[in-house]
Amino acid sequence: MKIKSAEFVVSNSEVAKCPKNALPEYAFIGRSNVGKSSLINMLTDRKSLAKTSGRPGKTQLINHFLINENWYLVDLPGYGYARVSKSSKKKFQKFITDYFEKRQQLVSAFVLVDIRHKPQPIDLEFMKYMGESEIPFGIIFTKADKLKPKAIERHVDEYCQELLKFWEELPPYFVTSASNYTGKDDVLNFIEKTNEE
Ligand code: GTP
Ligand code: MG
Repeated sequence: MKIKSAEFVVSNSEVAKCPKNALPEYAFIGRSNVGKSSLINMLTDRKSLAKTSGRPGKTQLINHFLINENWYLVDLPGYGYARVSKSSKKKFQKFITDYFEKRQQLVSAFVLVDIRHKPQPIDLEFMKYMGESEIPFGIIFTKADKLKPKAIERHVDEYCQELLKFWEELPPYFVTSASNYTGKDDVLNFIEKTNEE
């Protein structure tokens, strides 16, 4: 799919205030600093459409970006950022689960995980929650430029083995790098395909 236009539309702190039209959307979620905002910029070929930072906790709101005037990419804040207080963690959890449970327009989410790390309980728990709530999602491995091809293969394989301990089938998954554009076509083709269904 060719990205002809990509524009920021609105930031919200509540799902109730998100765009009201029925355009399909795809949301990016994962730990703080995993590369959600960078991936949105990579996919859309726009350097700073979504704000990125080396410090975790950059994205704080639900951000809608209108693509090709007929669907949305949604940038979400990260989970698991250790430096926020317990009460704001709770509030944040509610805000995210509200988004996933109430947003009818959501076609699929992408749960991002850093390809360098072993499966982390927080990510596995989140994926289990998505599975149990029947919210469709794919897994995006990020920062593939940080590993050699053999190590990429090994890490992906280990991840899949972990998932197969509690699921019979794997969700779709993608290996990406926002630095060298790995996986761009795979993710965009998946979006194009599911958008037509
Ligand atoms: P929050 O909004 O804080 O939850 O973070 P985020 O998940 O949106 O991460 P963001 O895109 O801001 O990126 C975090 C850091 O990782 C930045 O320093 C990026 O430059 C870096 N980064 C993101 N993607 C990649 C990648 O594919 N390769 C490399 N090498 N660095 C990346
Ligand atoms: Mg971000």
